[in-house]
Amino acid sequence: MSKDKVQIFDTTLRDGEQVPGCKLNTDQKIVIAKRLDLLGVDIIEAGFPISSPGDFKSVEEISKIVKNATVCGLTRAVKKDIEVAAQALKYAKKPRIHTGIGTSDSHITYKFNATREQIIERAVGAVKYAKTFVEDVEFYAEDAGRTDNDFLARVCEEVIKAGATVLNIPDTTGYCLPEEYGAKMKYLKENVKGIEKAILSCHCHNDLGLATANSIAGVVNGARQIECTINGIGERAGNTALEEVVMILKQHPTLNLDTQINTQLLYSTSQMVIDNMGIYVQPNKAIVGANAFAHSSGIHQDGMIKNRKTYEIIDPEEVGVTDSAIVLTARSGRAALAFRAKKVGYELTKIQLDTVYDTFLSFADSKKEVNNDDIHTIIKLSKIGLSIPA
Ligand code: KIV
Ligand code: ZN
Repeated sequence: MSKDKVQIFDTTLRDGEQVPGCKLNTDQKIVIAKRLDLLGVDIIEAGFPISSPGDFKSVEEISKIVKNATVCGLTRAVKKDIEVAAQALKYAKKPRIHTGIGTSDSHITYKFNATREQIIERAVGAVKYAKTFVEDVEFYAEDAGRTDNDFLARVCEEVIKAGATVLNIPDTTGYCLPEEYGAKMKYLKENVKGIEKAILSCHCHNDLGLATANSIAGVVNGARQIECTINGIGERAGNTALEEVVMILKQHPTLNLDTQINTQLLYSTSQMVIDNMGIYVQPNKAIVGANAFAHSSGIHQDGMIKNRKTYEIIDPEEVGVTDSAIVLTARSGRAALAFRAKKVGYELTKIQLDTVYDTFLSFADSKKEVNNDDIHTIIKLSKIGLSIPA
């Protein structure tokens, strides 16, 4: 059975760039946009054109160079924003305007001092206006995660009538539980008239560490687009990490969902974003963290040396990491030590290994990690009559 395609909407250059201190210049944005296009993302959200002349220029330049992906610009439900976005996108082969407004009671009351009817009117007006410039119009219902489902369904129905092609259901504050977010998508699928004319999109923030789980719950329940960023960067605790959702769909064939991402470029793309933005990922970050394919405990290392599938669910080469690492620490066992010693040129007998292992443990206790040079020192200190291999 052929798999359903989930579109990957990358917002590294818009939501991702909202991280304090991560501002990119246009040249850097172009480099990243080219790489995202090569990676195979379906949509690149290139910026928020009305927000600054720099952002306008970036969206315009990215529109000129992107070959395959749709290029998208963000707007509020404001005429001027939409006009400026349309202008910035004028060179794009496939332009998309992403417009929207807050729909939760707290946004309606405190941000807009408006009524629900007025919000629907503004949403419909924005979509209709955006449609006068481009065919592809995505509508976001900001804070949809905390918007009641009946009202959200009404908003969705009205904006579809106005011509919206994609409905973004953001969990703006990262509040939803996966079950709740999934149920929201299912509710919209089942209760919005005309829903077959639009794609439902997940846009999840990570305030409770649930962005990835929520996005997966969303697509399991009928959404067919995920909005995400490289390394999960973004406002506050960040967005859904692109590399995580892509690999989850790839590693779980029973979900019957797939993306067109070239996963072998994931690691280098992550590094490119780190280099340009100067924001590091924690070593234990899934898929792209420095320790994602490193094994340090003796039990795990022994299993890995026998067969890597014992402790690795992803072949590191699939995400562009050249090899897994067997890290030698005081927690490592004889198997890992013998394995590394062999790599640097020593074939140890069982008796030699016992002696070397004792030296190794005292050495490793005083050092975080034992490297190849240290192995030579340890062999020498063990006095087993072996000299450094040529
Ligand atoms: O989190 C959010 O609600 C957003 C919208 C502007 C799409 O980023
Ligand atoms: Zn967001």
